Amino acid sequence: MFESLKPIPADPILGVIAQFNSDPRDHKIDLGVGVYRDEHLQTPVLSSVKQAEEFLLASETSKAYIGPVGNSQFNALMIDLALGADHSAKSEMALVQTPGGCGALRVAAELIKRAYAGATIWVSDPTWGNHMPLLGDAGIQLKTYPYYDFETHQLRFDAMMAGLVEVKKGDLVLLHACCHNPSGADLTREQWHAISDLAQLKGFVPFVDMAYQGFGEDVASDAYGLRLLCEHLPEVLLAVSCSKNFGLYRERVGAVALKSAAPQIANSHFASIVRGIYSMPPAHGAAIVAHILANKVLFEQWLSELGCMRERILEMRTRLVDQLRSDGAGGRFDHIQHQRGMFSFLGLSASQVQDLAQNHAVYMVESSRINLAGLSEANIQPFCQALLSVM
Ligand code: LMR
Repeated sequence: MFESLKPIPADPILGVIAQFNSDPRDHKIDLGVGVYRDEHLQTPVLSSVKQAEEFLLASETSKAYIGPVGNSQFNALMIDLALGADHSAKSEMALVQTPGGCGALRVAAELIKRAYAGATIWVSDPTWGNHMPLLGDAGIQLKTYPYYDFETHQLRFDAMMAGLVEVKKGDLVLLHACCHNPSGADLTREQWHAISDLAQLKGFVPFVDMAYQGFGEDVASDAYGLRLLCEHLPEVLLAVSCSKNFGLYRERVGAVALKSAAPQIANSHFASIVRGIYSMPPAHGAAIVAHILANKVLFEQWLSELGCMRERILEMRTRLVDQLRSDGAGGRFDHIQHQRGMFSFLGLSASQVQDLAQNHAVYMVESSRINLAGLSEANIQPFCQALLSVM
C-alpha cells in the first residue's frame, strides 16, 4: 500500500540545516533556521534554565502522567506572562500547555474546526512557512492578506486594512504578536488599535501567534497588541512558544489559549482535542518555565538573559547595515536596522541564494530570509563580501 507514496522535498526551513551540516567548508555561515546564537555562534542553555533543571532534578518525585492540559502552575503563569498579571481578561482565558508553538497552532486549528468548520484563517503575505501545513493540513481553508512590500521592505498597512475589510464574521485573522517571521516588520501600536477596531466592526476573531515575546522590545511591549485585543474583543485565540525566549527549542513547550465568555468549555475542548492527537504534552520544559516564572530571582535572571539575546541581535542588525553601507551597498539594506526579532529579508532571488550557498558556503532560506543571530564579529565581513559579490 505505501508504495503509492511519492517522495516530497525537505521542509524549506529545516532543509537548510541538513544542507549546512553536509557542507565540509570551515568558513561556512548558517543564517537559516531561527535559533538564537551567541557571539561564538553557539546556542547556549540559559543559566536560569540550568538552575531550574538542577532544582527539578533534586525535587522531582514522580514521572507519572501529567494529563492533557499539562502543568497547571505553568498554565496559570503563562497567562500572566502573556497578558500581564493585572489584565482584565485573565478570568476569561482558557490556556493549556502544548508541545511548542507548533502544537499550540495545531490544537487551535482543531478547536476552530469544532466551533465552525467553515471558518477561513487569513494569514499575512508572507507568513512563517510552517503556518500553512500546521493549519492547512488540519483541513482549514487559508487565505492571505497583504502585509510586506518586497520592493520597499515596508509594511503594507493600507493594503492590509483594505484586505481585512473583506474578512467575514466567523473567520480568523492570524497576526504575529511581534518579530514578524519572516519579515521582521512589526505593527505599530496605532496599527494594532486600528486592527482591534476593525475586528470589532467586522466580527472576525484575531488569532495571535506569539513565538518571540521579549525578542523585539521587551516582554510587555511585545505583547502590546495581544493585550489590547484581549481588552477590547470578546474572543481572541492565542498560540505561544517558549522555544526562543527560554531557549527551550528541543523541549517542545508552548501553550494554546482562548479568551472567550466560557473558558471552562474551551478548556474542556482543548483537553479532548489533545487527548485525541498526542494524549498529553511532555513535562520537562513546562516545569522549567514554571519554576523560572514562579521564582523572583530566577525570573529576573531570565529577563536579563533574554535582554542579552535581544541586544546581540539588535547589535548585529546595526553592524550589518553599517558594514554593507561602508562596502558600497548604499541604503539598500537599511530596512534591516528598523526591523525586529531574528529575521529580515535580503531581497535576493532564489538563484542568488543558491549562488551564496554553492560558491560562498552561506546558507539561508530560499526567500532570502536571514537569521541575524547567525552573524558574529568574525563572519560579518566575509558575509558582506559574499553578499555583494552575488548582487
Ligand atoms: C524558523 O522560522 O526558522 C523557526 O521558527 C524554526 C522552524 O521550525 O521553522
